[in-house]
Amino acid sequence: KDESIDSEWNLHLYQGFWYFSTTLENVFYLQENFNADPTDILICSPPKSGTTWLKSLSFAIMTRNRFDESSNPLFKAVSHECIPHLESDFASGSFSRDQELKLLGTHLPLNALPKSVFIENCKIVYICRDPKDLVVSMFHFAKKFPWPIFSFERTVERFCEGRSYYGPYWDHVLEYWKMSQEKPENVMFLKYEDMKENTLFYIKKLAEFLGEPFSQEEEMEGVPEKIMNMCSFENLSNLEVNKTGIHREGSAVEIGNNAFFRKGEVGDWKNHFTQKMKEKIDQTTQDKLHGSGFTF
Ligand code: A3P
Repeated sequence: KDESIDSEWNLHLYQGFWYFSTTLENVFYLQENFNADPTDILICSPPKSGTTWLKSLSFAIMTRNRFDESSNPLFKAVSHECIPHLESDFASGSFSRDQELKLLGTHLPLNALPKSVFIENCKIVYICRDPKDLVVSMFHFAKKFPWPIFSFERTVERFCEGRSYYGPYWDHVLEYWKMSQEKPENVMFLKYEDMKENTLFYIKKLAEFLGEPFSQEEEMEGVPEKIMNMCSFENLSNLEVNKTGIHREGSAVEIGNNAFFRKGEVGDWKNHFTQKMKEKIDQTTQDKLHGSGFTF
């Protein structure tokens, strides 16, 4: 039996992480062909950690002087179309680099990022989330795809074994977290729960990190609040484009934009986990994080 292939979901193990075969091909392509620009900023995240939100906020911050309040592209397209996704858009050739906006998204673990990202010292913003909420989100998201569907219990079991796309989740988080400790000027490390609790504070921090801090005048005018409201779950999920629009991942999979907006809450795991499942995932978290200094 080939231990590097997960036959249940056709995932492939490469340098400690599980990928769909098409993603893995794209990783190799990127390693060879992607030349990062020193001004590129990568928005990195494990799937279902709040990518759509972080991309929306970053895009809104960076383009606030290019668009007036009502003409922002975020009103007409899901943020995944405003900010290209490295391993699908670039590798499929549908990537065109915006000369002004240097934001790129990716779910790749740190060890799979194209080397030029490190050579050019690109900035990275990372977001992660409580693993229990993340796996709930992943479970519901998977139903939207033509993939084998597991029970929630089996999903959690597989997740704890690290068998999720771009998993093991904890390893993904720890790699970026370590780099954020070593190079805080290069890596901004965010948690979904903190962002929910103190959104405005993190919007301001994010703007600073992205190199576009709010001026005093902008603060007086309430620009950070406007960005917060524009990118709120309520606002984005109720936009027509996000209710009925279709997003194409690379050249292959199509998915309704509404799949990126489910509940947008902290703690929905309480509605899904049995005590036994909770103990299992908490134990996995404890084992994985042991000695790292990191907690969720
Ligand atoms: P839930 O499934 O728990 O609701 P990703 O964007 O990485 O795929 O993550 C999706 C998760 O982020 C989903 O979580 C989704 O509802 C939530 N989300 C999407 N947009 C959001 C927003 N503007 N604010 C807060 N959460 C958001």
